[in-house]
Amino acid sequence: MGLAANIVLGERYRLIRRLGRGGQSEVWLGERLATGQHVAIKAHIDKDVPDPVALQRFVREARAISQLRHPNTVRLFDFGSGPAGYQFMILEYIEGETLESWLKKMAAQGHVPNQAQIIDIGVQVLRALAEAHSLGIVHRDIKPANVMMQQLAGEAPLVRLVDFGIAWVSQSVLTGLGRSMGTPAYMSPEQSMGRPVDGRTDLYSLGLVLYRCAAGRPPFDGKPMQVISQQMTAEPLSLAETTRTPLSQRLVAAVHRALAKNPEERFATATEMRLALEAASLQPLAPLQNERHYLPVRSDGTSVPATSDASCDLSTEVDLSSPKSRSRVGASES
Ligand SMILES: Nc1ncnc2c1ncn2[C@@H]1O[C@H](COP(=O)(O)OP(=O)(O)OP(=O)(O)O)[C@@H](O)[C@H]1O
Ligand SMILES: [Mg+2]
Repeated sequence: MGLAANIVLGERYRLIRRLGRGGQSEVWLGERLATGQHVAIKAHIDKDVPDPVALQRFVREARAISQLRHPNTVRLFDFGSGPAGYQFMILEYIEGETLESWLKKMAAQGHVPNQAQIIDIGVQVLRALAEAHSLGIVHRDIKPANVMMQQLAGEAPLVRLVDFGIAWVSQSVLTGLGRSMGTPAYMSPEQSMGRPVDGRTDLYSLGLVLYRCAAGRPPFDGKPMQVISQQMTAEPLSLAETTRTPLSQRLVAAVHRALAKNPEERFATATEMRLALEAASLQPLAPLQNERHYLPVRSDGTSVPATSDASCDLSTEVDLSSPKSRSRVGASES
């Protein structure tokens, strides 16, 4: 049985409309029957055959979010089972859009966010990460589709981190699942190789997100396995050259530091990276080096919007526990 509008889960929550669908879950806008309050309902869905590991991961996601209190992280209200054994999380409903869709809308108009907006996004994600990391929770799936821009009347968007679906929780009995998953365009070298990760993997992924914000595209693209190989070995083009909005040299340096292949060469903590971004906002902007290259002009004189996403598959998620994937990228299970 699939989920559908008006189904009531746990006798308390009514489904209204689907907001998103992932590999093994669906996210719905719902309402709490007693109060009419809007909530987001994330339900675990077994596709063909029951997958106990995926279900364990879903429960682990709920446990991870339940520990987090930071205002830049989504809140968990409840957890339960519904008809046909569905497990579901009741999350705070975040009214707004994902950073992915926010960036795509801007790109369609030929724009990228400016430095102040980029730093604001980075700082808020880093505040959420500082709390998660302090509790031993590594998100492992930082990407624009998992960052929401919450609209609040009269305010700049509040950045909210969602989707702890593949989070790594230290000392959890469920960590030894031997699976290394993620989205190639935003995956760190150590994650790509299936090696053990710590909070610095999230800093690398956030570096890729900030690079994408400024340049209109992440530094590595192509087919998923090509991207994974570039994450492991290729140096990104300097953001000073690829940026489409003026940035301070300190911001360029901070993004590149986050993108170091060796975690030891990155920022040690989310807070250290946040302070670097905040300091970068105080330095004057450097002029664009390469404006014409990144704003190509059509024969009629109008500029071509830099929609990065046509040429590269940024959303594919890979499960490197598949032997076929591992042998192609030389990754091993953690
Ligand atoms: N709390 C929320 N409020 C509003 N919309 C949400 C919320 N949580 C998720 N969404 C929407 O649903 C989409 C999918 O959610 P999420 O990223 O948690 O699941 P997923 O990627 O399908 O999960 P998984 O990778 O664990 O299978 C998000 O990109 C966002 O558009
Ligand atoms: Mg997601």
